[in-house]
Amino acid sequence: MAMDRDLGVAFVRAWFEAGSSPVRGWEMTAATGVRGLRLLEEGGVFGEFTFTEENREALSVLRANGGERPGARVVATDARQGVAGAPFDFVDLDPYGSPARFVPAALESVRPGGVLAVTATDLMVLAGAQPSACERRYGSRPVRGRLGPEGGLRILLAYVASEAERRGRSVRSLLGYVRDHHVRAYLEVGKYAGDPAPVGSVDPATWTGPDVGDRGPYGPLWLGALFDRALARKLRVPSSAAAPDELGRFLARVNEEVEVDVPFYYEANRLSHALGLPRPPSLDRLLAHLRARGFRAGRTHVRPEGFRTDAPRPVVERSVADLSSVH
Ligand SMILES: C[S@@+](CC[C@H](N)C(=O)[O-])C[C@H]1O[C@@H](n2cnc3c(N)ncnc32)[C@H](O)[C@@H]1O
Repeated sequence: MAMDRDLGVAFVRAWFEAGSSPVRGWEMTAATGVRGLRLLEEGGVFGEFTFTEENREALSVLRANGGERPGARVVATDARQGVAGAPFDFVDLDPYGSPARFVPAALESVRPGGVLAVTATDLMVLAGAQPSACERRYGSRPVRGRLGPEGGLRILLAYVASEAERRGRSVRSLLGYVRDHHVRAYLEVGKYAGDPAPVGSVDPATWTGPDVGDRGPYGPLWLGALFDRALARKLRVPSSAAAPDELGRFLARVNEEVEVDVPFYYEANRLSHALGLPRPPSLDRLLAHLRARGFRAGRTHVRPEGFRTDAPRPVVERSVADLSSVH
């Protein structure tokens, strides 16, 4: 999780203005506090940071790690009950498995204009291996297969958006990503102003994007942007990063991806195989080919062979076929 925590530091440094009024944070499920303590120490923006944890052993380590640090406050409690001190500017929710049961308290504790960062590690459920559990837990039908993890991220976002709306709030994804065995999103929380969230379903019968399989309709899914472009441009590898090269590569990829922030991605090698072509085209040439035809196209952080484009699938397939025969 080192890169993930480095990214958290990069996020708070880029999003919150250092030097303006001190930011107040809450890490709901803190364990030993390593994530929140890094944000407090390396973020340079927090005036106060509350850590909650309910496990006794974790709490004793948490107190030893953070109890004495200026600005840190450790509270032994069930985070689902909320904690004194709300509303916070930043709430971090990183439990084991599904965050769903913590989402109400999280949303009720972020001030409008603040940020909720939420992780889900229950990808078996969100990415489609256990569809009925996904329908029960998130009220959504999951995408299966290679696009399942991104589908899971979009289910999580749709779920948080719907819980927010029930509380008179709205959410906007600032940085939503898939990484190893989890998905995580930094969401700006606002006051609900009547505009519906960009949430809908994907019906394979009418969908013209990447192949999502034929077990749909899928969703509800977040179909809006995953990234805030201005934020992506401001993200920098912090000098304190534990995995600076990995974070640098991730940020470079995200900065390409913000230019074509559309749902789901293609994989050149898989497309070429499905079309019965002898070899895939080079990804660089394929992206240049699509751009030269007036479409947006760029790599995604989700998979090395993946790319997003707003070109309809027939155009993408024709481009892959044309380029596969030219070497
Ligand atoms: C995945 S760990 C958190 C890791 C931490 N965010 C980090 O980056 O190091 C999840 C923690 O949530 C705690 N937890 C589970 N249910 C909780 C609850 N209802 N209230 C507070 N903490 C809880 C667990 O004891 C565990 O320590």
